[in-house]
Amino acid sequence: MRILVVGSGGREHALVWKIAQSKLCDKIFCAPGNGGINQLAECLDIKAGDIFGLLEFARKEKIDLTVVGPEAALSLGIVDEFEKAGLKIFGPNKQAANLEASKVFSKELMAKYKVPAADFKIFDNPDTAKKYIEKIGAPCVVKADGLAAGKGVVVAKTASEAINAVTSIMQDKIFGDAGKKIIIEECLTGQEASILVITDSKEVIALASAQDHKRVFDNDEGENTGGMGAYSPAPIVTPDILKEIMQKIIYRTIDGLAKEGIAYRGVLYAGVMLTKDGPKTLEFNVRFGDPETEAILPRLKSDLVEIMLAASVGKLSKIRTLEWDSRACVCVVCASRGYPGNYPKDKEIGGLDEAAKLNDVVVFHAGTKKSGNKILTSGGRVLGVTALGSTIKDAINQAYRAVEKINFEGMHYRKDIGRKALK
Ligand code: AMP
Ligand code: GLY
Repeated sequence: MRILVVGSGGREHALVWKIAQSKLCDKIFCAPGNGGINQLAECLDIKAGDIFGLLEFARKEKIDLTVVGPEAALSLGIVDEFEKAGLKIFGPNKQAANLEASKVFSKELMAKYKVPAADFKIFDNPDTAKKYIEKIGAPCVVKADGLAAGKGVVVAKTASEAINAVTSIMQDKIFGDAGKKIIIEECLTGQEASILVITDSKEVIALASAQDHKRVFDNDEGENTGGMGAYSPAPIVTPDILKEIMQKIIYRTIDGLAKEGIAYRGVLYAGVMLTKDGPKTLEFNVRFGDPETEAILPRLKSDLVEIMLAASVGKLSKIRTLEWDSRACVCVVCASRGYPGNYPKDKEIGGLDEAAKLNDVVVFHAGTKKSGNKILTSGGRVLGVTALGSTIKDAINQAYRAVEKINFEGMHYRKDIGRKALK
């Protein structure tokens, strides 16, 4: 099969790496890819959001399966366009992608189908929103309705912080139209976990659990990022808790969508808070998580291409169960200093080969590019340094051994990835 992967991050490198191991795969293309992906795939000069450019390429090159990484392409309707052209593609269509692209859509769906989540109210007027905040006080959470590159959520400790968030989102319009409506919701407390499933809207197969580290600094301090590291499995997600999440969150959502006439196909990712009243949904993503994917896929023994292909044509029932490596996996993100704000680029990365030589280590590239014989930084999250170990502790130690081999000017990484799992 000829397979096209859309995207350019660590998640896409992990997908390409796993797809390359499939007996079904003959050739991989990646649009646009990065400095690590190009060792396994032919990288294309087509942007992930250029859905008609991608369509033209897929048609011309007779691509058998396209796998979409980022949410933006999904919410632009890449799946609808490919399916119209008779091409197989793994991911939800535009309507289904609203689960991530519109928090209002997602919250209303959850309320209608009794999916446990934080209590909320929707606002389209900043003055009314601010009055409401004065009434309920803090803590509370302010969320922009639309896509905001992972920055659209403010967990406010004080009322004035929440009011400032309303001003920036609705009046200063820092996210443009994505902030026309906002949600103000109850602040939940507990541990977070990421539950990813693959579904064709009838069958659902859970992937291994994972936990992300969203804040930029150790001990969950500093700003929210796309994710600074992940580990799998998340021991906090016991079999009983997983069962509850599947029943109350995953099935109710997929069945609820089906009742609305929306067949969800692809990966569904639920960000869940394990509260003292049980698991509650924080958000849905309509794609693989990043860096969760880097920590999950090295543990998957089954053929991912077979699974994605089956899901994309509504035949997931052909896949019985997935086989997993019982070892733990830890991914430590090496970022450019300054991320998630401004950061320098084009810094040479050293030590990649030394790191990759270590046992059970794979270095996924995120924001890198090849320049001559050198690999340079080109993004905020630069690498996902990943290791397997017989215990979480072993995997942590091995991942950090690999991180120590790597260097670039301004390299920043958290020193406590996975530590929560040891408690
Ligand atoms: P999201 O972009 O919706 O994933 O939110 C980003 C992060 O904000 C989540 O991973 C949580 O840490 C936090 N968050 C979102 N909603 C809530 C909530 N209702 N209560 C507490 N924290 C939240
Ligand atoms: N790691 C969080 C996300 O993929 O959105």
